[in-house]
Amino acid sequence: MRRTIWLVAAVITLAACEQGQEDPKARWTDSAAPASAPVERRWYTQDQVMAGAPLYRENCATCHKENAEGTPDWKTRDANGKLPPPPLNGTAHAWHHPLDILRSVVKRGGAPVGGTMPAFGEKLDEAQIDAILAWVQSHWSDEVYKIWHERDLASSAGLQSMR
Ligand code: HEC
Repeated sequence: MRRTIWLVAAVITLAACEQGQEDPKARWTDSAAPASAPVERRWYTQDQVMAGAPLYRENCATCHKENAEGTPDWKTRDANGKLPPPPLNGTAHAWHHPLDILRSVVKRGGAPVGGTMPAFGEKLDEAQIDAILAWVQSHWSDEVYKIWHERDLASSAGLQSMR
């Protein structure tokens, strides 16, 4: 009897997963786009990118540099064992993180992972953080964006099945 209940629960969870994948796709993919347009429509608008530029310059550029190129030697820790600000332009590691994680890095800073980046949750609101991330991601090539997008989709499907 116990076993049957678990089996039923597992089937329901699986079904929830499949449904979970429908929603984010509908949110992200523009099926009405002409064939010549890029397959993936980006999550942000040009207005967000423009709003993000001055906010990035003011809050992030001192460390991550004017064009998000960061520190060339971003993998080498300093004498205190801390990492320098990495590039955010798609050449380093930022594209490994889904959107929710990127938002949370900016809000909470590096402290949760023993890093040195300041937290911006008190200073910037969610729309401002999204605008900055839009500006950052506008530096990513279509290729990098596509890989990130697929990871982001997989992660939001995973989150939905846990709800
Ligand atoms: C005082 C320097 C500093 C400032 C200002 C700063 N950062 Fe950072 N940032 C870092 C460092 C250093 C790291 C590496 C992790 C750590 O040590 O906290 C990092 C990591 C990140 C990451 C994770 C990248 C990855 O490859 O995993 C993102 C995303 C990020 N920063 C975005 C921003 C944004 C957006 C702003 C502006 C709102 C900003 N940072 C402002 C220093 C800074």
